Amino acid sequence: MADQDSRAGERYATAQILEYAARIHHPPDPSLERAFEAPRRHGMPEIQVGPSEGRLLELLLRLAGAHKVVEVGTLAGYSALWIARALPPHGRLWTIEADRDHAAVAQEVFEDAGLRDRVTLIHGDAAEVLPGLAAEGPFCTVFLDADKGRYDVYGRWATANLRPGGLLIGDNAYLFGRLLEESEEARAMRRFHEEMAKSYRSVCVPTPDGLALGIRLDPSP
Ligand code: SAH
Ligand code: DHB
Ligand code: MG
Repeated sequence: MADQDSRAGERYATAQILEYAARIHHPPDPSLERAFEAPRRHGMPEIQVGPSEGRLLELLLRLAGAHKVVEVGTLAGYSALWIARALPPHGRLWTIEADRDHAAVAQEVFEDAGLRDRVTLIHGDAAEVLPGLAAEGPFCTVFLDADKGRYDVYGRWATANLRPGGLLIGDNAYLFGRLLEESEEARAMRRFHEEMAKSYRSVCVPTPDGLALGIRLDPSP
């Protein structure tokens, strides 16, 4: 972000540049590649994070020293694999998936990667699962990547269940370009941003669809 064009939103990445940068910085890993291919193989939507976003998740969690992490929206477990790679040996990821078929594919992916011990997959609607999961907290990181119209609800849960200094991360924070529209979904996503800005030291990283990122502030007395 260094000139008028990039400040106005223009991006210089091409498919070839993205592929080159990913290959040089994080050479292909067979179990991650199998997980990336799983949605296509199983006829699921191909909406997993990109390889560089996965790597960014791994680096952020390593920087934060995260050991207890919650993910909302597993799909086939690709982002979960990146998260799991950032965890120390005693670390744990709880990942929530509402779709039974997606959850079954993800469980196979975790077994294939030898991660059964570190990853707990919970099949269910996150709005119903999260209140019970609070007993396992407080958590070091919460990553939101499921139904975008409920990020406000999930964000409030994160704020109540993250330790101070913990990370909240939200994918698709630009809502596919619809963030400023007058729809219920867009209003919910804006509430997520605005509430995050109050309780976190935060930024929205301009990935293709925005990655909201914040460090939980100490709750005021
Ligand atoms: N994080 C994944 C991609 C998630 S795609 C990755 O990057 O690899 C979004 C997923 O959220 C879908 O699998 C969808 O079934 C799931 N989902 C949607 N609404 C949900 C809800 N209310 N609770 C839990 N999962 C939900
Ligand atoms: C969709 C969901 C995502 O989380 C994403 O990163 C891209 C697309 C979707 O529901 O279409
Ligand atoms: Mg997403």
